[in-house]
Amino acid sequence: MLLGDDRASVLRAAEIIRNGGLVAFPTETVYGLGAAATDSKAIKKIFSAKGRPSDNPLIVHIADPAQLGDVAAQVSATALILAERFWPGPLSLVLPRADHVPAEVSAGLPTVAVRMPDHRVALDLILAAGVPIAAPSANRSGRPSPTSCCHVLEDLAGRIDAVIRSAACTIGLESTVLDLTGVRPVILRPGGVSRENLEAVLGCRIALSGSNDAQGIPRSPGMKYRHYSPRAPLLLIAGPESRRSMFIESLVKSYQGRGLKVALLSSYIRGYDTGKAAPQQLALHLYDALRQIDHRGADLILAEETDIKGLGLAVMNRLRKASTRVLKV
Ligand code: TXA
Ligand code: MG
Repeated sequence: MLLGDDRASVLRAAEIIRNGGLVAFPTETVYGLGAAATDSKAIKKIFSAKGRPSDNPLIVHIADPAQLGDVAAQVSATALILAERFWPGPLSLVLPRADHVPAEVSAGLPTVAVRMPDHRVALDLILAAGVPIAAPSANRSGRPSPTSCCHVLEDLAGRIDAVIRSAACTIGLESTVLDLTGVRPVILRPGGVSRENLEAVLGCRIALSGSNDAQGIPRSPGMKYRHYSPRAPLLLIAGPESRRSMFIESLVKSYQGRGLKVALLSSYIRGYDTGKAAPQQLALHLYDALRQIDHRGADLILAEETDIKGLGLAVMNRLRKASTRVLKV
């Protein structure tokens, strides 16, 4: 069912969620595929609709920081400070999971990731449903995350109960996942809130998880899979800027010479004298660009490394996950 984002449609969507159904809804980051976080049967449906590995936990969405206590078993002072500063917004906090949150939500982990999205429709939906909403990104597992209703339909039409169509997402990349269950906070997935902003608020350096802990177990299970992937192979070109562009030009010529259709993802707007796009712009357009490249039937994608300041860290993280190879020049 394709729903609008008016009040009556949101109420209809909330009823579907309360009855154990799946609804894709907009957030400021990407579209989520929501189910009642209290309903383990509905949670299982999310995993099968997406084709998601069962060991990859979901984020629980709340409409008010006061709901944090319903989802987490303990809420530390650090969690409260971060919620106060960054919610509503693209920051998911990993905390000890409350006993009544079904284990399926967290793929059996003793923790739970929680966030309050900065989107009117998402917040109204959670309030109207009367329960927190567990939601991964609303794409087929492994595909680029959806930043529009069209993207959701491309991947999930016929597999879910409804989708709410609203204006496109304003950030375009997923939330930052921050683990607060250890001695120090650790970023498990860089995202919409930058590392610099978190460090400024907490007054300390924050580590970025290499995906494995001491036992070699990925701390954020989702990070071990190839992700955000277009159908065409993606080569990530890394190295000093001056050498990169010459290398890319020669690669493009050589592949085109062999009759291949090559797509180029770059922060430079080539042929125009407008210079480099800001990381916010790259974040906003990355997933749509990957999908468009597929539609145009590219045989190969060349993507240029970007600066890792601010949102650039999340952009580079997604490019690495989407890539089949990294070429250092
Ligand atoms: O912006 C977002 O975060 C979007 C919107 C819909 O809110 N959601 C999203 O969900 O990106 P998903 O499922 O595509 O990614 C969730 C990430 C995965 O990498 C997962 O492993 C990690 O968060 N995660 C969830 N719960 C966790 C937990 N308890 N411990 C560690 N990592 C967790
Ligand atoms: Mg996802």
